[in-house]
Amino acid sequence: MEMENKHKIKKIIVSTKCTSFCGEHWHDQYDIEISQSFKMTLEYILEQDKRNVILTVLIITPEEYEQVFQLMNTLDYSRIYYQLVIVDNNEELNFNNIKRLYHISDITGGNISDSKKKFIIDKSFSIIEKYFKNEQRKKWFHNKLMDSQNDQEDLINIGKSLSAEKDLDNLLRLILSLSKKITGADAGSIYLVEKDQEDHKRLRFKYSHTQSRDIPIEEFTMEINKNSISGYVATTGEVLNIPNAYDLDPLAPYSFNPYIDKEYNYISRSMLVVPMKNHRDEIIGVIQLINSKEDLNSSAHGNEAYLMVLKTKEDFDNYVVTFDHRYDSLLQAIAGQAAVAMENSQLIHQIQMQFEEFVKASISAIESRDPATSGHSFRVANICLEIAKEINRTSTGPLAETTFSENELKELEFAALLHDFGKVYIDLNIFKKAKKLFPQDLENLILRLDYLYRFTELKFSKKINNLRGDLSNNRNKIKALWSQEYTELNRISEIKNEIISLNEPAYSEIDPTERLTPILRDITQLECESTTGDKMQILTEENITNLSIRKGSLNAMERKEIESHVTETYNFVSKIPWPPEYANIPEIALRHHELLDGSGYPDGIKGKELLTLQSRIMTVADIFDALSAHDRHYKKSVPLEKCLAIIEEEADKGKLDSDVVKIFIDRKIYEKVL
Ligand SMILES: [Fe+2]
Ligand SMILES: [Fe+2]
Repeated sequence: MEMENKHKIKKIIVSTKCTSFCGEHWHDQYDIEISQSFKMTLEYILEQDKRNVILTVLIITPEEYEQVFQLMNTLDYSRIYYQLVIVDNNEELNFNNIKRLYHISDITGGNISDSKKKFIIDKSFSIIEKYFKNEQRKKWFHNKLMDSQNDQEDLINIGKSLSAEKDLDNLLRLILSLSKKITGADAGSIYLVEKDQEDHKRLRFKYSHTQSRDIPIEEFTMEINKNSISGYVATTGEVLNIPNAYDLDPLAPYSFNPYIDKEYNYISRSMLVVPMKNHRDEIIGVIQLINSKEDLNSSAHGNEAYLMVLKTKEDFDNYVVTFDHRYDSLLQAIAGQAAVAMENSQLIHQIQMQFEEFVKASISAIESRDPATSGHSFRVANICLEIAKEINRTSTGPLAETTFSENELKELEFAALLHDFGKVYIDLNIFKKAKKLFPQDLENLILRLDYLYRFTELKFSKKINNLRGDLSNNRNKIKALWSQEYTELNRISEIKNEIISLNEPAYSEIDPTERLTPILRDITQLECESTTGDKMQILTEENITNLSIRKGSLNAMERKEIESHVTETYNFVSKIPWPPEYANIPEIALRHHELLDGSGYPDGIKGKELLTLQSRIMTVADIFDALSAHDRHYKKSVPLEKCLAIIEEEADKGKLDSDVVKIFIDRKIYEKVL
């Protein structure tokens, strides 16, 4: 087992009043008084060479024992190890004030032979050395234990961090910074294996970071071969732990490119390069770390030293060490986790893209059923996003504190794209219904009126023909019939025109039954028989209901059916197993026709507090697009000024969220989306 032994050991003898005790100077020797200067001398010796560990034998008198012991207690124990030799020149050796026996290797009179003195000194040093080695051993095991514990914690934390990050670029940065931190590396790069258009694998330099220099390197790609260090690892899958990049094994196929070092006055010394392998053992990238740092003079050890900045050549000489071999397997474990996290991130991204494209394609397909509304959902989504992003930028007003996260923006976008999805369940004719009667119904009604006209003409023609046999007697009757025929035919033409006019959608609440009542009265008085001789009804119940519509072109049932699109949307969208971050999509979509005064649908919810901000945004976006869209066949697009005035008016009436409307108008969001 290889022990850590990075210290130089310096042996010194410090004697106080017994300068004669140690005649031979085979160690550094200091003769000083026991006082503050004694402590300062020891501190000076420690300071002289910061890497040294001092093993010292102190030769003192019994009277000095307590004072020396107290002083030694104030020194840095980790670097000074001592033994005391107490020399008592009195005849009787005085042990009275010696309370603690440890640290004392001998007590003797001064009058002994030189060889005995030498023996005592050697024995003292040998005790200290033994103690020092044991301490070192203890420390080494302790450090190993701490390192393994730290590595284990780091690995767990890295696993957690990596699995939490979904964005690939952020993930790569995270992988690199965690790898550098855990190994105390000063610099690092990440390379990814990718395929070019001809399906040849290349290595893409993706991202790098150097603690001690600001080195901007653009992405680039390179051949995968054994000539470069990263290429070698990408080819062979071997881990390279290189002590010095400028002193490579002459037999190694790879070489080090010193270009960046020269350009940025940097010295790449130790390197640790590991492959990133996915679960199929394929190499998908390479992590390359440079210059493991360790500061032996401070408590910074291993990954605590990664923030240290290397400025001068001396810094590189003093602080850069070979990557500890335990990092080989540790970094491989990190690289393995990173590879899986990257693949997951790419897979999630791919699934998200596929899902998004699928949603968009479905929306396009649904909207293509009715060209008049095509693009509506995409425009509403765009308006919603623009409003939400503007709210994020707002630092004043009631929405200043509101911020939509990336996930919330995506959630809003999906909800907006899908908000009218339920229309797929609604009879398309109702959506396309531009007038109060469906075109076919109007056509049939006109045909019946024309039939009535013709029937009336025939009816009178028959009656008149019957009277023509006795023309002289029936002249007045015939005249009367002519007049009656004229009146009836005129009335039929009037009714036809009136019905064509009544069929236009109404934009006011005026009751059309005022116009319909005389028509119904007159038309029932006109006789009309079908070809089979049955009495023929000109205006059906359905015609009457529809022509009585007070506002717009839809009757109550049709309106209800159209309104049901929001619950149909909700039912459909709720069936999609959304991830938790998109859990509000069904609710946001369901509420896009709710109005704050309770006059909306499906639930007539009243009050801002009961509706999410997202659905309040969507209501504004939906109304604006419905008004401004150029392509609704049943209604001309409203000029922009008027659209804005209507939206403001709706906000004033308490139907729309005035804060949202204010942002929409003040920040001219309509300009971005038109
Ligand atoms: Fe809608
Ligand atoms: Fe809509």
